[in-house]
Amino acid sequence: MIKEAKTKYPVHELIKKRFSARSFSGKGISKDELNTILEAGSWTFSAMNYQPWRYVYVHKDDAGNFNKLADCLNGGNKPWAKDAAVLMVCLVKKKYDDGSINGAAYHDVGAANATMILQAASMNIYGHVLGGFSKTKVTELLKLDTEEYDPFVMIALGYLDLPEKLDEPYKTREVTPRKRKPVEEFATQLKSEKEEILVG
Ligand SMILES: Cc1cc2nc3c(=O)[nH]c(=O)nc-3n(C[C@H](O)[C@H](O)[C@H](O)COP(=O)(O)O)c2cc1C
Repeated sequence: MIKEAKTKYPVHELIKKRFSARSFSGKGISKDELNTILEAGSWTFSAMNYQPWRYVYVHKDDAGNFNKLADCLNGGNKPWAKDAAVLMVCLVKKKYDDGSINGAAYHDVGAANATMILQAASMNIYGHVLGGFSKTKVTELLKLDTEEYDPFVMIALGYLDLPEKLDEPYKTREVTPRKRKPVEEFATQLKSEKEEILVG
């Protein structure tokens, strides 16, 4: 697997295998498969177990709606994300039922997305989170009340295809090794009051 993470410490295979793919095959994702992925996300922790994630999705075979959602994507995402098997909008429910702001909402929705995408990877389905889209277009399309819901990211899901099927620059991106900061750069053990704790 070209994009598999090269880790310093032993990390679970699923985490090494996941990457933000762009080359999607024509193979569809069934309703059951998608429900498995969504339910996996629902088992994520969240503040007060409030579960502030909402998803609006469309399968590729619903061409009319799929194209409407794909049309909300920015120019750099459209050329490859239009081949995904499923596109979804991920909404953050910003407030609790009593109208107060849920300060953990974005944290919790991101965590649910990660859980879903790892479940998907276990099924050889790859997810790609997308911030590059028009919120205005999505808001109009879904007739959203943005006081309540923030359409924060979209997610493209699909089975993998070969990198060669992509045009540049996406082909190169599809095979460029993934990189991360070393653990020592972002995590510090708290030792004593005297020592400086963080970090550039
Ligand atoms: C909030 C968010 C927004 C993102 N937006 C885009 C995007 O618009 N287009 C894109 O190609 N990738 C997007 N990505 C994917 C990241 O670029 C990718 O996760 C990062 O480069 C690490 O690569 P990896 O997921 O393959 O490990 C986004 C990821 C996140 C979490």
